Amino acid sequence: MSEKATKLGIIGAGDIFPAYARGLAAFGNVQLIAVADARAEAATARAAEFGLLAMTPAELLASEAEIIINLTPPAAHLAVGTEVLRAGKHLYTEKPLAASYAEGQALMEAAARSGRRIGCAPDTFLGGAGQAARALLDSGRLGRIVAGQACMMERGPDDWHPNPEFFYRPGAGPLMDMGVYYLTQLVQLLGPVRRVSGMAHSSWLQRTVPRGPRQGQRIEVQTPTHVVAGLEFEAGAFVTLSTSFDVWKHKNSHIELYGEQGSVVLPDPNQFGGDLSVCECDGDWQDLAPRTFTGRLRGLGVAEMAWALRAGQPHRANGELALHVLEIMDATLRAAEKASPVLLGTRCERPAPLPLSFAQQIACEVNA
Ligand SMILES: NC(=O)c1ccc[n+]([C@@H]2O[C@H](COP(=O)([O-])OP(=O)(O)OC[C@H]3O[C@@H](n4cnc5c(N)ncnc54)[C@H](O)[C@@H]3O)[C@@H](O)[C@H]2O)c1
Repeated sequence: MSEKATKLGIIGAGDIFPAYARGLAAFGNVQLIAVADARAEAATARAAEFGLLAMTPAELLASEAEIIINLTPPAAHLAVGTEVLRAGKHLYTEKPLAASYAEGQALMEAAARSGRRIGCAPDTFLGGAGQAARALLDSGRLGRIVAGQACMMERGPDDWHPNPEFFYRPGAGPLMDMGVYYLTQLVQLLGPVRRVSGMAHSSWLQRTVPRGPRQGQRIEVQTPTHVVAGLEFEAGAFVTLSTSFDVWKHKNSHIELYGEQGSVVLPDPNQFGGDLSVCECDGDWQDLAPRTFTGRLRGLGVAEMAWALRAGQPHRANGELALHVLEIMDATLRAAEKASPVLLGTRCERPAPLPLSFAQQIACEVNA
């Protein structure tokens, strides 16, 4: 660990916390020092488990941490994030940026007022698979991408998450909770979206937790659980995205992109690694296996943000990208409600590919 490591704190000691605590340990340029939670006992337990300081949120905001990571549920992202920025800290927040586009805009305005940065998950697009796909597309081997399809369909998180209710509230659902990985990957590959159409409904308005400690508990569904988006990218590609918590099984790929000179199939954008399949024109499929940044690297976006901050350069998993993706999701739900396409107001630049010098300079365990 370098003495100049950027000190980090986390607010939110829930389900995803251990993945961050372990993932961040792979990077030599950051040091997680403390954890806080509205439930003091949760912070104390996580602090003991990972050798950290337990603090109240107010104590953490007054601490020496330079970047605060917000791991609270989406409904709290705006309130917690605004406090972080007001305290003069940089904010890295879990996805989505906020529970609605309007809240996301408010958070970006708070960052502009404070002169501090916003980073936002997902950062998986910085992993080996996303970067290999980016290099492939940028090489021009497949020509211009004209179309694609993406698919995240499952039966929902009811049986594994300790507090599954929030997945069925506004700000979550399959599009905001999981579609965000697919959209972020698509935008880093294809650039911004110009217009969306949408269809959305819920197959069940009430769900029953099937197993685990909450077995039998009823959950009221307050956001659509099957959402289909039609995405028209500025660069011209038409991509359909299906997201669902209403489907037991399917055989679709996660993401397929079709270019003038060939096609590529990408692995799960909720992971950093995984193999790609590529074909040129009607040739055979070839596997493309990324070798670096393929492990469980939750926190890669935080480490890259800290690295970029020190270098005075823009960071990649940034607020503009996250706000554009949030607007795509918000606009899809609005398009579905009014049964008419919606033009987007935001756009963003594609974040630059992750350079090799990043891994070299921060001496990270790239396959941890
Ligand atoms: N669980 C996962 O597998 C997973 C994966 C990727 C991303 N995420 C994202 O991470 C975030 C957190 O998810 P989770 O599954 O860990 O949720 P969780 O419900 O398990 O934990 C959230 C924690 O935040 C605390 N909290 C809530 N409001 C707070 C506030 N105002 N101030 C301080 N603490 C507060 C709660 O007490 C709780 O300990 C969400 O944005 C989610 O989308 C979760």
